[in-house]
Amino acid sequence: MLSKYHWWRDAVIYQVYVRSFLDSTGDGIGDLAGVRAGLPYLKKLGVDGIWLSPFYPSPQHDHGYDVADYCDVDPLFGDLAEFDLLVAAARRLGIKVLLDIVPNHCSSEHPWFEEALAAEPGSAARARFHFADGRGADGSEPPNNWHAMFGGPAWSRVTEADGQPGQWYLHMFTPEQPDWNWRNPEVGAEFDRVLRFWLDRGVDGFRIDVAAGLYKHPELPDSDDPEADARTRDSVNPLAWNQPEVHAVWRGWRSICEEYTARDGRERLLVGEVSVPTAREHALYVRSDELHQAFFFDLLSAPWEADAFRKVISEAMQDIAGTGSTVTWVLNNHDQVRTVTRYGEPATEGSGLGAARARAAALLMLALPGAAYIYQGEELGLPEVVDLPDDVLTDPIFRRTGSRARIRDGCRVPLPWSGQASPFGFTSGVESAKPWLPQPDYFAEYATDRALADTRSFWHLYRDGLQLREALPQLGEGTLRWLESPPGVLAFVRGDGLVCAVNFGTAPTSAPVSGTPLLSSGPCPAGVLPGSTAAWWMSDGTESVAP
Ligand code: NOJ
Repeated sequence: MLSKYHWWRDAVIYQVYVRSFLDSTGDGIGDLAGVRAGLPYLKKLGVDGIWLSPFYPSPQHDHGYDVADYCDVDPLFGDLAEFDLLVAAARRLGIKVLLDIVPNHCSSEHPWFEEALAAEPGSAARARFHFADGRGADGSEPPNNWHAMFGGPAWSRVTEADGQPGQWYLHMFTPEQPDWNWRNPEVGAEFDRVLRFWLDRGVDGFRIDVAAGLYKHPELPDSDDPEADARTRDSVNPLAWNQPEVHAVWRGWRSICEEYTARDGRERLLVGEVSVPTAREHALYVRSDELHQAFFFDLLSAPWEADAFRKVISEAMQDIAGTGSTVTWVLNNHDQVRTVTRYGEPATEGSGLGAARARAAALLMLALPGAAYIYQGEELGLPEVVDLPDDVLTDPIFRRTGSRARIRDGCRVPLPWSGQASPFGFTSGVESAKPWLPQPDYFAEYATDRALADTRSFWHLYRDGLQLREALPQLGEGTLRWLESPPGVLAFVRGDGLVCAVNFGTAPTSAPVSGTPLLSSGPCPAGVLPGSTAAWWMSDGTESVAP
């Protein structure tokens, strides 16, 4: 029998960046057994599911987003037997498991790419990727002028069997991540097989990497603004991303998910990493026969200003909710500077402003209609580690651009679990183990054992928010009506009467509801909404709806 309740529509999913979650072997790298050991912690927090960052065999040039084998586990992280144990343990606890699938590109060590390198120009093996002759008299210039997202040209030249420089292949990220040619039906068929492999092992769905990618313009023409991708590090080259053909792939994947659901009634979820210019284009990816959901990154990129937040929330509600899907809110992930640091202001460093705002943003996100994703450590209020020395940085962006701008190691530092010194319980039982990125001493303040013991911690705010989402029918899916509010304040009513208000300014203002809040991100006396604070109240019927 099919379940009537679409669990994913208002689910809260916790992103596990496996290599930084919990290390069960003492090699300084988190692993699947560590994730299994951490499940009770996540159950206590109250999340509905986990998304596991890639753990497949990979040379780790982009920490697993360079996949050499889509149907196995890298020995760094465990093996298939351990994976099965993890899925079974999560199922027992009622925690859904989503995998990260990477269909735009693979690893240069994937057997099909190795076969393509060894094969002739024009061969069937090369037709699975984008191989092309170079330009110029001797073919020494790339086939077009596109730049890769992580710096440098989007093409690399190969050496042919005769030892001579030969064709070029396309890679929109690093040279170790060749892009698949989705115009070749063998590629789609292979990914159908991969989906079924993991669905047969019991997973509840997939987070899809670069879901606006896959297809390129069929002629691979020059771009008018070749450096746009590298400059913005967003997929903005209209010839390389967001091609109309990609929608057929999502329809096919959706039908595979439906097939499994029809068998056992368990709904499977496809959530896409969709970076496209407007909310309206985003909405095309979540039409009822395509992806169930797609991360709505505009909230994450909005500056800390009431008007900016109101605009992105209104657009999302209008364009995405109109498709019949729900909005998938996100404030943090493994590619972004953590909110505590992002919302802080250098002039007020140390004042806790970034932390106060991050707490308020969390309460706002959890009050919005739809699903929400929490990135590990967000529930601890971890700041970005901004002073990692150059010699420990592993992000290919740093290696390829030589710049620290927007590098991603600072949000990937292994989690602190307990104790006063690194590894802070990250490596179970091996006190001398060295985490793959160094943890700063101040991580002691953020360790999970301290967070659980302190009712004022971020952890308790997230846990209380999740409990209220579970208990109150007004939260999760449903309506949102804006309330009239003073400049710098956002206020809205959910359903038949839960009010959420956020004061983006620093001075207190009057609260939209007179009583004591059900939950607030900071101290919040009755009738007052302090600066950099969000709160939830049950409506007393006196608040006025915006015209
Ligand atoms: C998006 C992922 O989130 C990021 O970590 C990765 O580097 C790129 N896609 C390329 O796969």
